[in-house]
Amino acid sequence: MEQQNWRGRQVLVTGGASFIGSHLVDALVERGAQVRVADNLSTGLIENIDTHVKAGRIEFLQVDLLDPETARLAARGCDVAFHLAADHGGRGYIATHPVECATNLILDGTVFRACHQQGVERVIFASSGCVYPTSRQMDPTAEVWLAEDMVGPPYESDDLYGWAKLMAEMTLKAYHTQYGMKTASCRFFTVYGPRCGESHAVMAMLARAFARQSPFVVWGDGEQIRNWTYVDDIVEGMILAAEKIEDGTAVNLGTAERIRVIDCAREVIRLAGYETDVKKLLDMPSGVLNRAADTSLAASLLGRVPQVSFNEGLAKTWAWYTATKDADDVRLLVADEQALLTHRMGKSAPSPAASA
Ligand SMILES: NC(=O)c1ccc[n+]([C@@H]2O[C@H](COP(=O)([O-])OP(=O)(O)OC[C@H]3O[C@@H](n4cnc5c(N)ncnc54)[C@H](O)[C@@H]3O)[C@@H](O)[C@H]2O)c1
Repeated sequence: MEQQNWRGRQVLVTGGASFIGSHLVDALVERGAQVRVADNLSTGLIENIDTHVKAGRIEFLQVDLLDPETARLAARGCDVAFHLAADHGGRGYIATHPVECATNLILDGTVFRACHQQGVERVIFASSGCVYPTSRQMDPTAEVWLAEDMVGPPYESDDLYGWAKLMAEMTLKAYHTQYGMKTASCRFFTVYGPRCGESHAVMAMLARAFARQSPFVVWGDGEQIRNWTYVDDIVEGMILAAEKIEDGTAVNLGTAERIRVIDCAREVIRLAGYETDVKKLLDMPSGVLNRAADTSLAASLLGRVPQVSFNEGLAKTWAWYTATKDADDVRLLVADEQALLTHRMGKSAPSPAASA
């Protein structure tokens, strides 16, 4: 399917009111697709898509896709489905809410089954770097690049959230093998950008800096390596995966930059223009210690790897954050680390701050 063919295509985006989902909706509308968003707004925000809804450019269904009949109605008449709906949060949420994350096993199965029953041609899934074996990601001094074929027996995904993503990838492969449904999975690596909630590490750091927190808190010892990936690169990668992958292959969407949490913190403090010490909270969840994507399969299959450098993406996100947030709200938000632990992304204060 070539890019120009998006015009007039009926596209379902589950979880389309979310941070990443809403950026995908923007890009699909821009390409002329007829977009339907199905989202229960549990963490998604209507304001992320309401300019499209009000202008009649997209159809919005506020529905719970755990219900099979609802999922079938959402999928009806669609050519392509991007499945992003998930029970999800940052590292704190994943670590403290395994039961909720396990409901994704039901949600993903229900959505894929509905798509198959309704004759949806293609399904593209929002998977995660959390499918990779955790034991390969525990040495912050090693230069490990997570390549797609490292996911195999014995499987060892990251918490129930990661296991559910892995099961969904496998289910989509099975739909392709057994029924010929065109499917692809995209493994996102720690995504950030405008509209991302403070449940994710970069956004939590931006919030702390905006509140001029001193000392500046990081979760863990700060040595954890991440390759934070700007949301526009994720969206371009997902659309290319829809155009170029049909056989259920999973592809990494992540940058080749390795950034330590402590260096991210220092850059955020520099952007905010003040000086402070960093305080390391060793008891807070910090996730695996070394997570970075090998980008070679994306280069060969999609013909594109992420383009936005971390410093560029961070500066854009800082500009958005400071232009849209109220300083008093943010100060309240960052005041209680323990309360921050249990919250989820997207919703207004108090929202989570984490370090995944
Ligand atoms: N943000 C990241 O760094 C990251 C990394 C890897 C994968 N992902 C995946 O990307 C997708 C989007 O994540 P995000 O970070 O933009 O925000 P998110 O996790 O808030 O998005 C999930 C969306 O699904 C909706 N939803 C949840 N349960 C639903 C249900 N039963 N029925 C209908 N809608 C439901 C929520 O309201 C929300 O809009 C998720 O699948 C997530 O697992 C995100």
